[in-house]
Amino acid sequence: MTSLSDSDTATTAVVSALRAAGCVFAEDEAELILGTARTPDELAAMVDRRAAGQPLEHVLGWAEFHGLRILVEPGVFVPRRRTEFLVDQALAQAPGASVVVDLCCGSGAVGAALAAALGNVELHAADIDPAAVGCARRNIAPYGGHAHVGDLFDALPAALRGRTGILAANVPYVPSDEVGLLPAEAREHEPLVALDGGGDGLDVLRRVAAGACDWLAPGGCVLVETSERQAEDSVETFRRAGLTTRLAASEELYANVVVGVRD
Ligand SMILES: C[S@@+](CC[C@H](N)C(=O)[O-])C[C@H]1O[C@@H](n2cnc3c(N)ncnc32)[C@H](O)[C@@H]1O
Repeated sequence: MTSLSDSDTATTAVVSALRAAGCVFAEDEAELILGTARTPDELAAMVDRRAAGQPLEHVLGWAEFHGLRILVEPGVFVPRRRTEFLVDQALAQAPGASVVVDLCCGSGAVGAALAAALGNVELHAADIDPAAVGCARRNIAPYGGHAHVGDLFDALPAALRGRTGILAANVPYVPSDEVGLLPAEAREHEPLVALDGGGDGLDVLRRVAAGACDWLAPGGCVLVETSERQAEDSVETFRRAGLTTRLAASEELYANVVVGVRD
């Protein structure tokens, strides 16, 4: 069967439409859209949505993350490639973890990536936003994961206390008065609760640090992403919470991850 992407005419039309709408990577995006659309009508609708400014991943319905294809539904935070660094840090810190919690899970990309790499784990993902939890539930189902709605640790089953080997928490960390400076794709298509980290951006991070030790197994680790500017305060917050703490940075991915370990 001929796919839509086999037609030069269709490719040229999609590239032109995306270019006219200001998409910088029109050729790459056209290839992804053409490879995802199943019918000409679906293709036209996807091009229209992208031209109207929706994030490419919402238009496609998926994002690539740590070698996985993660479903991303409209209104759910799009997993960023830089967050793959947090996953790698978690795997390096706790390669034998058997209980994994993805707190502030969004699509569940982090939890899915950890479970895919670790193999047989007990996986829990939680988020305050029911739309995110619905999406995460689908992404972690192949790994037998459980998804929960609620405010940070309140969402988790009590049986996880003191047993968690990896607590990954990609919390929102944009300072409130900088949310307006984010690209329109984020501001207009991702929920505020996924972006806004409060006055200095560290409100949710502080609450995660304060609660982490209760949920970690001895030797278990908690990881958060932060910005370069916030890194020192973030590390200090983890230390004050009683965690043995280090900062990991990737220049290539422009990522900073704070890793705290319960002794
Ligand atoms: C930056 S997004 C990260 C999503 C996902 N972990 C990822 O890396 O793609 C932050 C997520 O935290 C969730 N969130 C914000 N405040 C929360 C809270 N108090 N309790 C639980 N989840 C929260 C948001 O709904 C959003 O899905």
